[in-house]
Amino acid sequence: MESNISINIDRMWSTLMDMAKIGPGIAGGNNRQTLTHEDGEARQLFQKWCNNANLEMNVDELGSMFFLRKGIDNELPPVVIGSHLDTQPTGGKYDGVLGVLAGLEIIRTLNDLDIKTKRPIMIVNWTNEEGCRFAPALMASSGFVGTVDVNQILNTKDLDGKVFKEELAKIGWNGKEKVGSQKMHCYFELHIEQGPILEKENIDIGVVTHGQGLRWLEVELIGVEQHTGTTPMNVRKDAGLVMAKIITEVNNLANNNQPNLVASVGHIEVYPNSRNVIPGKTIFTIDFRSHIDKKLKDIEAKIRSIVSKISEDHKVKFTIKDVANYDPITFDKNCVNFIRNAAKKYNYTYKDIVSGAGHDACAVNTKIPAAMIMCPCVDGISHNEAEEIKKEWALTSTNVLMHAALEAAQ
Ligand code: GLV
Ligand code: MN
Ligand code: MN
Repeated sequence: MESNISINIDRMWSTLMDMAKIGPGIAGGNNRQTLTHEDGEARQLFQKWCNNANLEMNVDELGSMFFLRKGIDNELPPVVIGSHLDTQPTGGKYDGVLGVLAGLEIIRTLNDLDIKTKRPIMIVNWTNEEGCRFAPALMASSGFVGTVDVNQILNTKDLDGKVFKEELAKIGWNGKEKVGSQKMHCYFELHIEQGPILEKENIDIGVVTHGQGLRWLEVELIGVEQHTGTTPMNVRKDAGLVMAKIITEVNNLANNNQPNLVASVGHIEVYPNSRNVIPGKTIFTIDFRSHIDKKLKDIEAKIRSIVSKISEDHKVKFTIKDVANYDPITFDKNCVNFIRNAAKKYNYTYKDIVSGAGHDACAVNTKIPAAMIMCPCVDGISHNEAEEIKKEWALTSTNVLMHAALEAAQ
């Protein structure tokens, strides 16, 4: 293979900035939540770019988009590069988008240089990685590998009661292809680190060897709505207070299990959400993660008992729903080595790293050999409109992705 070929970073950067114009946020980032009009628009633009790069498209029943660049032997399953174009409600320009558009830039570079690969190369945009509008996260990639049921996904409702399959049809991306039918040889995903390690240590490339497991438990508390002025303190059944106590205890649990556990409550609903009514109902989701499987199981049991004890102490009823459940994962050793070798070849500095976030690669890896590359991000900030990367980080990490994919495709 050609030695140390490079992508065109100026072209890639302007492509990233063009994509960021769709679904602008309010503070320089993006709000392009899955299956919204903006998601539809982003898909159209991406499709146009891929068509111009001579890629063939297939779309599955969950709306995941697969673009194929033919190889020399098209009987062989392709080497796949993917990530997601959907964002958080106050998301950045790079989370997910970098990985998808890096794939496109690699194809453009191979086309420019007229490089033929033995295996075909495929680019994927997975539907609903973020899980903010429809839970769980990593939705379509999990459907693809069969760890989450496709019918369950199609019938999932968002907070407004809108149904996944209807929203998908509304934006016109309800494909015909049966989910999971694409063959894949191996899968690579480039992602921003979303944490501070690489930037702080001045390292070019994170070689992701493991991914944290994660659980989302949705808790519903039922107390009694009553007047805040007239109800004596000792008879209140305050679902808001119980939620606050549970959140504090979950935080204590995480702090007492450092560095092996993180936990937060990011989604809360309070009913009726009126200043002078004691909350009669709350719904909130506890997100907790660890790279140690046993730790996750122990903590889940502890959280369930915290919820039950505090609720019972306050005579509030509770239910707990399991909305996401991903075990810690170890990425494929061969794929990880392709990435390490690629970083070496370009003389980039690199270090092994564990992914704190969930990624489509984590879902894919349960069935198909996969690995991930991380590039630094400024101050480790992500899931925030202020998310930023330097242009040279996009360059180095996309070159590594290209080299790893090319080696795997020969
Ligand atoms: C996906 O962004 C996650 O929640 O880790
Ligand atoms: Mn992401
Ligand atoms: Mn994300």
